[in-house]
Amino acid sequence: MEPSAEVRSTSVAAGSPSVVGVLTLAPHVNAYEHDIEQTLITQQDIQAKLAELGERITDDYRGRDLLLVGVLKGQFVIMADLTQYIRLPLEFDFMAVSSYGAATQTSGVVRILKDLDHDIEGRNVLIVEDIVDSGLTLSYLLKNLRTRRPASLEVCALMQKLDVQQVPLDIKYKAFEIPPVFVVGYGLDYGERFRNLPFVGTLKPDVYRDAVT
Ligand code: IMP
Ligand code: MG
Repeated sequence: MEPSAEVRSTSVAAGSPSVVGVLTLAPHVNAYEHDIEQTLITQQDIQAKLAELGERITDDYRGRDLLLVGVLKGQFVIMADLTQYIRLPLEFDFMAVSSYGAATQTSGVVRILKDLDHDIEGRNVLIVEDIVDSGLTLSYLLKNLRTRRPASLEVCALMQKLDVQQVPLDIKYKAFEIPPVFVVGYGLDYGERFRNLPFVGTLKPDVYRDAVT
């Protein structure tokens, strides 16, 4: 299989992305074996990078109260794993927004389906996102949450797609930069499937074709 995409992992120490490489699907993964074209980021690479980010977050927030805000649903897997690497007392809250339906292109329209349970005024808020594509969802969220006057507001994202961002965004904690391809796994879905893959991968063209016929 020809590698069609390249992933850059954000080097926490140096601050510059480095090439991680492209791997094919591990033979033991059988739940979606007919649907996955290629593994883009392995389970091991994800865990190693989350451990680094967790260390950094631990250092940065030591002595401050920390509220993690997850944007449902995609981030639930990263949230569960990341927070085990943050060695601080912290609290969680969740929001649900709609950006995509079953399609693979952002609509540009962001709707809050579920708001936070708690007031964030004066809190140190860290938004945890799965992936930043156009950036429209995150940009809307940042604007919205800023009006609630948190003490600080930062973003942690597992992935950012390169060259597709429509709005400038400052993502302080970013694990991977990926090409602008549609990916699934590790919380990310296509039509609500594939979230339980332990790695990030791309889908075979048939999967999309089957979905529209
Ligand atoms: P944005 O508003 O275009 O940045 O899109 C952000 C949201 O769209 C993410 O939180 C995901 O829920 C979804 N999304 C964007 N790209 C992908 C992808 O490649 N696979 C699955 N979901 C995606
Ligand atoms: Mg999402």
